[in-house]
Amino acid sequence: MSNAMWGGRFAEGPDAVLEAINASIDFDRRFYAQDIRGSKAHVAMLAATGVVSQEDAAAIAEGLDQVLGEIESGRFTFSRALEDIHMNVESRLAEIVGPAAGRLHTARSRNDQVATDFRLFVRDALDALGLSLLRLQQALVEKAEKHAGDVMPGFTHLQSAQPVTFGHHLLAYVEMIGRDRGRLADARKRLNESPLGSAALAGTSFPIDREMTAKALGFDRPTANSLDAVADRDFALETLAAASICAGHLSRFAEEIVLWSTPQFGFIRLSDRFSTGSSIMPQKRNPDAAELVRGKTGRVVGALVGLLTVMKGLPLAYSKDMQEDKEGLFDALDTLDLCIAATAGMVTDMTPDVAAMRRAAGAGYATATDLADWLVRALGMPFREAHHVTGRVVAAAAERKVALEKLPLEVMQEIEPRITEEVFGVLGVRNSVRSRTSYGGTAPANVRRQAARWRRTLAKQ
Ligand code: ARG
Repeated sequence: MSNAMWGGRFAEGPDAVLEAINASIDFDRRFYAQDIRGSKAHVAMLAATGVVSQEDAAAIAEGLDQVLGEIESGRFTFSRALEDIHMNVESRLAEIVGPAAGRLHTARSRNDQVATDFRLFVRDALDALGLSLLRLQQALVEKAEKHAGDVMPGFTHLQSAQPVTFGHHLLAYVEMIGRDRGRLADARKRLNESPLGSAALAGTSFPIDREMTAKALGFDRPTANSLDAVADRDFALETLAAASICAGHLSRFAEEIVLWSTPQFGFIRLSDRFSTGSSIMPQKRNPDAAELVRGKTGRVVGALVGLLTVMKGLPLAYSKDMQEDKEGLFDALDTLDLCIAATAGMVTDMTPDVAAMRRAAGAGYATATDLADWLVRALGMPFREAHHVTGRVVAAAAERKVALEKLPLEVMQEIEPRITEEVFGVLGVRNSVRSRTSYGGTAPANVRRQAARWRRTLAKQ
């Protein structure tokens, strides 16, 4: 049997393999609500502009509501032979309403229809992701305030660098996620134009009102070029790019959680609720959720690269390749949402071992910079020279296998006779972080101020 929607030109139905490769209903059914919403806006406009009669429009709108009800209550039978969500809905509408249903597709094509549906879907998804990220920021800020003064090692090259506070470290992620939210909000702004009424590619000869449908669907305005409107998937790419950067942030944090929860680091403990055991090694407490947040980044970035590749050589306007825009995006956004929830869960769940962190903060001569700075301040030494002197002091401590503050003053004075007792004031990790008062620095007072600022900002959002 030839297709009910375009059978006029065809004598035979499609091969089974064509049907298998062509059908998108198994995944695009996910935006049935957006499809029906778009159709209702379209038919209301067709009635307002006199393109269809009020009676037909009312019957179509009622029929669409019935279809929505059937899908939502699980009574709808999706058919692969009907290819996609658009034709599944329209075909059922025809059963309910009769021939008048055929008027819905006036001045419209599946090309502007799918572009509209997809934008509506992505817009909702962006809003939901933004909210999940806000919750994660709140969880981080709460922990950061609690641990604003708890010292931990700060690393560069994963080697002890300078002491920082745990609160400061957590707030670094609050900043990153703030930018992620900014990128999502930015993508939403650019996305918010309505392709509906661009029809197949050239616009339509019917006297439609695109402002009206744009407004009804919450878009800021109609798109200005019909070719661009049906051929554009920038909004999906931008969303995936923002999602990929965000997934990268979560992955870095997940990696730190994995490191911190090893017995070797021992900086944090995840509760039983966020740890898994081993079937052979009874002692194990594995941070599987963190590992999966780290690992799932591949899927999100993969979806971005996949769609970039799909789009890159397509001539204007629509090509069926573009149907490949959906599955990757659905998966990427679901994945990211789950990763955000898992990260927020771990943040709330983790108990830092503040004593272990403080011990580790002093290891590796992490206050050597403080000593160099002291030589500059107290003795007026140029920093480069102070760096050299400090290097010799560190070498002397390393030779004796003691921490800097345990190195006898006489030994230091052999290297630099002007060093006094006063130097010990800067060699402890607490004093080190307390001295980092420059704007954005790790001093506990700064961290408290920044955490409070974030708490207030987030409460308003
Ligand atoms: N299922 C299609 C998609 O997702 C809808 C648009 C089909 N348009 C067409 N000209 N065949 O891209």
